[in-house]
Formats: sequence, C-alpha cells, structure tokens
Amino acid sequence: MKESSNIKIFSIAFFCFLLSGNSIAHSDHSDVKVHDQNRPTVFITGSNRGIGFGLAKNYAIKGWNVIATCRSPDRAEELKKLASDYPNILIEELDVTDLAEIDELANKYEGVPIDVLINNAGILGDVQAQSFGSLDQSTFEKVMLVNAYGPLKVGEAFADNVALSDQKKIVSMTSGLGSMQITGNTDRFYFYRMSKAALNMGVIAMNVSLKSKGILSALIAPGMVETALLEASGYPLSGPVVVTIDQSALGLIEVIEEINPTTNRKNRGKAINYDKGIIPW
Ligand SMILES: NC(=O)c1ccc[n+]([C@@H]2O[C@H](COP(=O)([O-])OP(=O)(O)OC[C@H]3O[C@@H](n4cnc5c(N)ncnc54)[C@H](OP(=O)(O)O)[C@@H]3O)[C@@H](O)[C@H]2O)c1
Repeated sequence: MKESSNIKIFSIAFFCFLLSGNSIAHSDHSDVKVHDQNRPTVFITGSNRGIGFGLAKNYAIKGWNVIATCRSPDRAEELKKLASDYPNILIEELDVTDLAEIDELANKYEGVPIDVLINNAGILGDVQAQSFGSLDQSTFEKVMLVNAYGPLKVGEAFADNVALSDQKKIVSMTSGLGSMQITGNTDRFYFYRMSKAALNMGVIAMNVSLKSKGILSALIAPGMVETALLEASGYPLSGPVVVTIDQSALGLIEVIEEINPTTNRKNRGKAINYDKGIIPW
C-alpha cells in the first residue's frame, strides 16, 4: 500500500518536473515581448539607416510591432532615438552574413509570430573592384553573401515565425539593376547586379518551398532613393527620378500590404516597385 502511494507521488512529481521543464524551455524566450500582441509585427534587416530605417519609422508610426535589426545597435544612434520615441520598436543585433547570429536570434524569437519579414539589408560593394578589368573575387563573395545568400538564410531561419502570423509574408529588396531588361546597356556594378539577379531567383524558389506553410515570398524594389548606397554609385542624389526615404518607405508599405497570392501569380514573381510599377526580368 505504502509502496504504491510512493510510486504515485513519484509519478506526480516526475510529471510536474516534465511540465516545469517545458515551461523553462518556454520562458527562455519570454524576454521577447512584442509591444502589442493584437497588432501585426514586422521584422526588418539593415534598419539603422537608409530605406530600412524609413521602413522601421513608418511601420512604427502605423502602430505595428517593429523588430528593427542592424549590425551594430551600439552605434545605431538614430534608430535608438526612434525607439525611445516609439516603444513599439525593438532593436536587435543582426548581421545577415553571421549564420550563428541568425540562428541565435531565431532561437530567441521562437514562437513569436512575424507578419512581414523584410530582407532589406544590402551593399553595393566597392565600385572599382567590380569593374571589368579589375574584378576582385573577395568583393564578389562579399556582395553575393550579403545580397543573395543572407536574405535566404534569414528567410529560412524565421519561416516558422512568419508561418505563425496572420499575414505570412517574406519580402526581399531587389533592384532594377538586377533586371536584364533594364540594365542591358551598361557594364557597371557587375557584382551588385549579379547579386540582385541571384536574389530574384532565390526568392522565387523560396516561394515554392514555403507554399505548404502558407507563406508568400515576394520581391519589392524601392526606386532610386537618396541613401548612402545611391551616393556611392555615383548617381546624383538630386537626379530627376530620385525619391526621399519616406516616399519610398511609404510606397513600399502599401505595396507589401497589397501582396497576395493573386498578385504574386499575376506578376509571375517579378518585383513590385515602391510606386506599384512592375520591374521587368
Ligand atoms: N538606394 C537605392 O536607390 C536603392 C535602389 C534599389 C535597391 N536598393 C536596395 O535597398 C536596400 C537598402 O539600401 P539603402 O539604399 O537603404 O542602402 P544604405 O543606406 O547603404 O543602407 C544599407 C543597410 O544595409 C545594412 N547592411 C549592410 N550589410 C549588412 C549585413 N551584412 N548585415 C546586416 N545589415 C547590413 C547597413 O548596415 P550598416 O550601417 O551596418 O552598414 C544599412 O543599414 C538594399 O538591399 C539595396 O540594394 C536601394
């Protein structure tokens, strides 16, 4: 009799231990508190400056939970100031070429729904080192890693978060410079152009891989925007078609809102520009 009640107590204790183990595993992630669980959440790479910053700011103004990632939060003064004005912004460290960091952040956010994941981070790369006659391999590798591989790895790592959300969208920032029809007559920016063309193909393939999770993977393009990247290209920031960061970001937010299975099918995977124009392949 005594032995059977001991077994019973042991069983209950063991069961409680299992349960508590579960809740410990869960509480590992409890430091992640999105501002308001009833609001949608956007996750943005490269949000300390340029278009990524514009997207973080304008999503924050709309009241979304914003997970604003950047390589060096310590040095992201403007973003930190923005986050102090908008408590719905969470700043996280993320270099999209640091695979351990991607996994660590994905682990931290396990179970947190992300409605829209924006692969925005990108680099032009040294212009001279990607000019015919002085093509440099390490520059090629760096540009491809950041612009083409990084977005796929981030998409892969956070796909389950996106699948948990209502909107289920992964959007990746390409460029008209990745379009053969647009750039057929120029030989500048080899690696940047190749990286965006590669990204385009990866995003389309990812759309098929993620279909069973109900996730849409789509391409967006920001227009010519007055950022450091455009300046480094040598294009005049005062050029006739150049738009401000806010103009681009607000347009992109509308574009992202309108992305759905029908638009994806209709565009046959082509990128939608910030002004709703379709970028040809
Ligand atoms: N501006 C345009 O006219 C234009 C046109 C077409 C497409 N785009 C695309 O738009 C996106 C944003 O460009 P932008 O014009 O805003 O350029 P930007 O002002 O130069 O900003 C680039 C952002 O990407 C981040 N970044 C670079 N390497 C990274 C890495 N390894 N991991 C994480 N973040 C990284 C930068 O962070 P750090 O501050 O740490 O360097 C910065 O936040 C890019 O994908 C670009 O190709 C821009």
